[in-house]
Amino acid sequence: MKVLVFGGSFDPVHKGHVAMLKKALQIIRPDVAHVVPAYHSPFKAKSPTPFKLRMQMAKAAFAPLGKHIIFDDYELKRGGKTYSYQLVQYLRQRYENPDIYLLVGTDCLNDLHAWKNPEYIFKNATVVAGKRKGFPEHKADFKHVFLPGVFPKMSSTRVRAHILASGTIPQDKVPEAVGQIILKNDLYGLEVHRWLKAHLKPNRYLHSVKVAEQCSLLSDIYEVPAEKAVQAGILHDAGKGFSGAELIAFCKDYKIKVPFFDDICRFEPSLLHSYVSAWLAKHEFGVKDKEVLNAISEHTLGSLHMSTLSKILFVADISSKDRKYKDAFVIRTLAVQDLEKALLYAANRKLWFTIDSQKWLCPVGIELWNHLVKCAA
Ligand SMILES: [Fe+2]
Ligand SMILES: [Fe+2]
Repeated sequence: MKVLVFGGSFDPVHKGHVAMLKKALQIIRPDVAHVVPAYHSPFKAKSPTPFKLRMQMAKAAFAPLGKHIIFDDYELKRGGKTYSYQLVQYLRQRYENPDIYLLVGTDCLNDLHAWKNPEYIFKNATVVAGKRKGFPEHKADFKHVFLPGVFPKMSSTRVRAHILASGTIPQDKVPEAVGQIILKNDLYGLEVHRWLKAHLKPNRYLHSVKVAEQCSLLSDIYEVPAEKAVQAGILHDAGKGFSGAELIAFCKDYKIKVPFFDDICRFEPSLLHSYVSAWLAKHEFGVKDKEVLNAISEHTLGSLHMSTLSKILFVADISSKDRKYKDAFVIRTLAVQDLEKALLYAANRKLWFTIDSQKWLCPVGIELWNHLVKCAA
């Protein structure tokens, strides 16, 4: 009895998953295949998407591949974390003398020895791996089958970041039936886009999308989690739809702490929008990550303690692709080469722009400038 098993968070299922299972079914020719969505992956923070929906997406994507696929809620019934060796144990109990094939991506192969109880897996199962583009050849010292061909380099994290940044489903990466479930259930930040469209002018909404996309690009280069960068980018101007008077009232009503509040209220109340946006991110959209909230608060004036994420947002905001002035192009080009230089240039341009407009300079911006000059010296 040949049993193929394919576990994963499937949050969401992408076309890379489908291609790999399809090929494994052709090559291994199992009598039965178990698709087992993780209840709580040992390698990831608990998936925020309900199990029921991830199972629904798995069924929508994989059911067309064959009638011998069992959509198994073993991990849900078990609760807590399930390690792969426990999956193998369970299948050994369920079938008599099963020949078990465990399907994984080659990126997982490199970590396989770090899995819990790998000896048990190697003794009782054959590892089936699909090679993904960009991953080096792997020499496996255990029972294994490499599937022929190279599978697209896709990740669910990237798919989620794309949806959160753009409010659209990447059709080249997500099976249509899975896309329908995402749309129907407003997953991965689609509700954020609806809110922004309702509360911001079309140009400001477009700007938010472009900033989120720029944040995503820079997060890759500077090794910041893409979802955090995109979250900061898409929400950074959420409070920009308010007038100056409304921003002042908002900050007073919700007791939002703002440095130089009285001067800002008097001379440049629009500066309050970053603090209000951070408040909205936290209270309207449930963002808890302090780094994301700080990046949003600091996106206009900066601070002396900017994280890499804060720097990315500061630079992305002034140089996103919807910005048409010449400096935007210069900063965008600089940002992919050297984030610190791009930050210095962006801070410089902001100060000059404020002076040229005969506007009040907030001491926070001046402090940032002096700090950056000192750091660069
Ligand atoms: Fe802003
Ligand atoms: Fe902005």
